[in-house]
Amino acid sequence: MKIEVLDNSNINSRAYQEILSVVTGKAHPVLGLATGTTPIGLYQLMVNGYQQGVSYKHVSTYNLDEYVGIDGGNVNSYRYFMNHHLFDHIDIDKDNTHVPCGVGDLTEQCNNYNNMLSQQPIDIQILGIGVNGHIAFNEPNTPMDSTTHVVALTDSTIKANARLFAHEQLVPQQAITMGLANIMNAKKIVVLATGQGKAQAVKDMVQGKVSVACPASILQNHPDVLLLCDKQAAMLLD
Ligand code: GLP
Repeated sequence: MKIEVLDNSNINSRAYQEILSVVTGKAHPVLGLATGTTPIGLYQLMVNGYQQGVSYKHVSTYNLDEYVGIDGGNVNSYRYFMNHHLFDHIDIDKDNTHVPCGVGDLTEQCNNYNNMLSQQPIDIQILGIGVNGHIAFNEPNTPMDSTTHVVALTDSTIKANARLFAHEQLVPQQAITMGLANIMNAKKIVVLATGQGKAQAVKDMVQGKVSVACPASILQNHPDVLLLCDKQAAMLLD
């Protein structure tokens, strides 16, 4: 794993360089995208890039996860988040943007997502990390060979994500998420981590034993991972 400790303000621009080299370097780039607060600045840079002439017409995207029980029109859904922060502002064909669907027959939704991912391998996957070491919504104890599946969110994740909802009671208890095996199939992975609250998760991801206790630790086994973090998130690293 390569690690770059940067000023907070430079993390998204460094991530954008990596995205741009894929978007401009391939005929049909496939981007793996993440939600959460951390990558919002990256999406703003992608929108700025579009305004300055970068085209996303030939790009496909796959998002990591979605809440169960709310549809894409709900302001708290990850589909809404992606439209709002990125897709509505660039020239991407919305039919080529994929976010797992958390309503309807969930087994079928998982199978469909896995099939699409096996046909369109991800060139670059952007990842955030949860305070408990989750990536996407793969909570501690998720099997390393998991593919897209439905998960029960942990109390700590529900509490951490409640800030984006009007009340904690409104946070869905379940989500549909790419599995760890899907994420490991990406050709390149860029992890973004900022703030002291992520320091323990970053330490466990980078220097802990590879273990289901910290799902992000599986990234130690991937050949091309770049971790971009600020000093606070890196503070526990040796
Ligand atoms: C959610 C998402 C994760 C994301 C995490 C951290 O749980 N499912 O993909 O990495 O939040 O989000 P933030 O960047 O807001 O800290």
